[in-house]
Amino acid sequence: MRKLSVSATLIALALLSTANAEEKMSMSDADKAMYAEMLENNPAAMDVAEGEEMFERLIGNEAYAKMLGVKEKDLPKYLSGFPRVVKSAGKVVTIAQTLQMAMADRGQSVPKLESNEIIKMSAYVKSLANGLKTSIDVKSDKQMKEMMALGQEVFEQRRGGRGLSCNSCHSADIIGQRLRMQPLPDLGVNKAAGTWPAYRMTQSQMVTLDKRFQQCMENALLAKIPLGSREMVGLEVYVTNKTKGNEIQIPGLKR
Ligand code: HEC
Repeated sequence: MRKLSVSATLIALALLSTANAEEKMSMSDADKAMYAEMLENNPAAMDVAEGEEMFERLIGNEAYAKMLGVKEKDLPKYLSGFPRVVKSAGKVVTIAQTLQMAMADRGQSVPKLESNEIIKMSAYVKSLANGLKTSIDVKSDKQMKEMMALGQEVFEQRRGGRGLSCNSCHSADIIGQRLRMQPLPDLGVNKAAGTWPAYRMTQSQMVTLDKRFQQCMENALLAKIPLGSREMVGLEVYVTNKTKGNEIQIPGLKR
């Protein structure tokens, strides 16, 4: 049974891939040189710096820590454990959602999750935990357990015209194979949980983890799950847990 479904997946992937995929490299030499240079000087460092400026102007550490119910000095450790249940939200939320809450608390108009403000501030806030390991706890309570289960369901659910799921390309038995020119990445080896928001060279901009999920959905012809929805937060919980323990290094740098 298992063998059969793997080969069905391979056929679906073959349909998506172009001919000669084997001969092509995931990155040209020029791309590799650019990657090395950008590692030294990540263009998204600017976004993080702008995020810091906005965060300090609009929210500030003190108000933020207070809203989260933690001491300022404990912020980095606490931030390494997102997504998590935040008491004042009464549910599992992402860092980006806590920024929306903090803005609302301070009587400011609340920017959308896809806005520059939230993207840049969330990169800055997550960078406060740089050097720590991601420490999500999916068993901390009932709500986390539910979101973990939901995330796994979404990850494994086959959707769209080609009947693909996230798992079709990111399961243990398939990673390392090539799709179009790209090797299918092991989310753990790529440190997915600790390296987003990241600068994506192919997009020339900083991208958040949930946006990255949407880009995969788009490529695989799956209907896009909206940012901030229960399904999207569940997916973030599931993927973060899958790659738990990786060091946080924000901003990341990706192809
Ligand atoms: C058709 C195959 C395919 C499907 C389906 C797919 N992905 Fe991907 N995914 C890829 C490829 C290929 C890459 C690497 C692209 C690159 O090198 O830029 C990738 C990259 C990623 C990354 C970035 C890894 C990192 O940190 O470098 C994440 C996270 C991710 N996918 C999550 C998902 C999720 C969640 C889903 C389901 C909604 C999904 N993917 C569905 C092929 C797929």
